[in-house]
Amino acid sequence: MILVTGGAGYIASHTCIELLQAGYEVLAIDNLSNASEESLNRVQQITGETLRFIKGDVRDAAVMKDIFEQHPIDAVIHFAGLKAVGESCAMPLEYYDNNLNSTLVLAQAMQAAKCKNLVFSSSATVYGDPSKLPLTEDMPLSATNPYGRSKLIIEQMLGDLPAADVLNKTAPWSIALLRYFNPVGAHPSGMIGEDPNDTPNNLMPFITQTAIGRRQQLAIFGNDYNTHDGTGVRDYIHVVDLAKGHLKAVEKLLSSEGIKGVQAYNLGTGNGISVLDMVKAFSKVNHVDVPYEIVPRRAGDVAACYADVSRAKKELNWQATQQLEDMVKDSWHWQSLNPKGYKS
Ligand code: WQD
Repeated sequence: MILVTGGAGYIASHTCIELLQAGYEVLAIDNLSNASEESLNRVQQITGETLRFIKGDVRDAAVMKDIFEQHPIDAVIHFAGLKAVGESCAMPLEYYDNNLNSTLVLAQAMQAAKCKNLVFSSSATVYGDPSKLPLTEDMPLSATNPYGRSKLIIEQMLGDLPAADVLNKTAPWSIALLRYFNPVGAHPSGMIGEDPNDTPNNLMPFITQTAIGRRQQLAIFGNDYNTHDGTGVRDYIHVVDLAKGHLKAVEKLLSSEGIKGVQAYNLGTGNGISVLDMVKAFSKVNHVDVPYEIVPRRAGDVAACYADVSRAKKELNWQATQQLEDMVKDSWHWQSLNPKGYKS
């Protein structure tokens, strides 16, 4: 059985589909502070499989102790946490409480239950402002905001566990740190997708909400970067590709070879796409207009960021397959069928 924390979330719900379709039993826990249980109802509709759901907070040690005592958990995928860069600058303590304490309580419960197979939802944000591209996993890490710092601290905290196993002669931890680049898109059914509370932080939900008329126009944050068209360049990855990457990581953890200690993997496509590239592709593929205006740069943004994905290909036997056209088509399909997200 795979425990999926934050299981009702955007990437987590897509991952639950892949796990169920691969034959795993799934137990999802979510406090529903930033997600809807409807996403998990739809996961079960899409797959025709059932999963178990617990409404709860990963920071609650008693809840986590019960989960491991009452369920045969073979591995954990830890998604639960807050993830908006801008918001984290305004409320750092909430970010450290949610992200650090949930991971601490989870790891303690796992250790007590001798379940030491963990996939951690990390982020390309741990690379800070890239000095060279494409980014490889051994490049220097730094943080430019509380969200990214929380991910970095967690990576370092988990990084201390294997040495303790050697000292204590205890069964070794096997941990995969998955560093996501920019997740976009939705399951091709259009039944689940990205459903941000309030004003979206990220580009794609802003594009889809503008296209569907919920927003007047898209503000493009700067066109004076040193990129091919002056707008920011990112490594956008289809959320279904990302979900399949999590399945591969779980399979690696549970294989006879396993993962020795802690290993980081970039989950991206290796391609850089600009904001204008994305807007033009979205309009062209979906035959829908996205009014926009160029405004000044957003604080904290970097010009360009994209991944070297060779380690995940070699060690997890995974690579992204969805193209830009699939990303914009599936994002629009989800938004068109769900104008108000899960509240539609
Ligand atoms: C992408 C590009 C913006 C909105 C963040 C986190 C990262 C990960 C993904 C969690 C940039 C431009 C955006 C808009 C715009 N999240 N943009 N107008 O900042 O690359 O990454 O989300 O793990 O950790 O840092 O994503 O979608 O906000 O921005 O012009 O309304 O789109 O300037 O160039 P970002 P983003």
